[in-house]
Amino acid sequence: MINLKEILDGTEKGYAVGNFNVHNLEYVQGVVEAAEETQSPVIIAITERPLNYYGIDYLINTVKAAEKNCSVPLCLHLDHGDNLDIVFKCIEAGFSSVMYDGSHLPIEENIANTKKVVEKAAEYGIYAEAELGKLQGIEDGKESTESALTDPEEAKRFVDETGIAVLAVAVGTAHGFYDGEPKLDFERLKAIREKVEVPLVLHGGSGVPAKSVKKAIDIGISKVNVGTELKVAFNQGIKGVWEENPDEIECTAIMGAAREGIKNKVIEKIDLFRSNL
Ligand code: 13P
Repeated sequence: MINLKEILDGTEKGYAVGNFNVHNLEYVQGVVEAAEETQSPVIIAITERPLNYYGIDYLINTVKAAEKNCSVPLCLHLDHGDNLDIVFKCIEAGFSSVMYDGSHLPIEENIANTKKVVEKAAEYGIYAEAELGKLQGIEDGKESTESALTDPEEAKRFVDETGIAVLAVAVGTAHGFYDGEPKLDFERLKAIREKVEVPLVLHGGSGVPAKSVKKAIDIGISKVNVGTELKVAFNQGIKGVWEENPDEIECTAIMGAAREGIKNKVIEKIDLFRSNL
C-alpha cells in the first residue's frame, strides 16, 4: 500500500485518482479488479460504520491479499474520521492514509485536532486529508443539512497552520443523491487552487455530470470521492440476478454480480478521471 501523498503525485498533470468507498469483500475485489484491468492507481476508502461492519483486521488483510495480485498502487484510506479515536486507531492498525473530518467544528478546533492527526500520521510515515467547509447530504448514515462553501483565504490559513498534506473542499457538491443538477463553483475552486499548494479533493462525486468533473480536474482537483454510485451498482447487480432468476440461491452468482457491478462502475469512473493514462 502506498501513502496518500505518493498516490496523488502526478495528478497535477491533469488527472485525479478515484477514492472508492467500500463496504465488504466484494467491493474491495471489484475496485481492485478495475484498477488492475485499467492499470490505474486507486484509493480504497472506508467510513467508520462499514469499517465496524467489515472488521479492521479483515479489511487490512483483504487489501494486503489484493495487493499480491495487483500491479498498480493501492492506498487504504479512512474516510471522514470525525473523532481522533477512530483516526488514531486506523493509523496504528496500518492504514496507508486517513482523513480527519473536523468540518463540523469551529475552525480553531478543526485546526487544533487536524494538527494532532498530522503529527500522528507523520510518526507512522503516512499523510492525512482534512476538510474545510461543509457538504450537505448523507454520509456514513449521518445527515448534514448545513452547507458552507470553502473560503479560499481560510483554506490557506488552514493548510499553513495544520501542515495538512491534502485538503477536501466544499465547492457545491453534496453527499448522496442530488435533486437536479449540482452546480459547482469553479471560480471558488480556482481561487482555492491559487492560494494553496496541496492536492485538493472533491467529495460527493456521485451524480456530478461528467463535464463538471472534468472541469474540476482541469482546475486542480486531484482526488474524487465516489460512494453512492457504487452502492447503486452493487444493488443493481444483485437485483439483475433475481430479475433473471427469482429462485437463484447461489452466493457466487448473487455476490459475483454485485462485484461485477462495482468493477464496471469503477472502470467508468477511472476513464472519467483519466487516472489510467
Ligand atoms: P457520494 O456518496 O456522493 O459519491 O460521496 C462520497 C464521498 O464523498 C465519500 O467521502
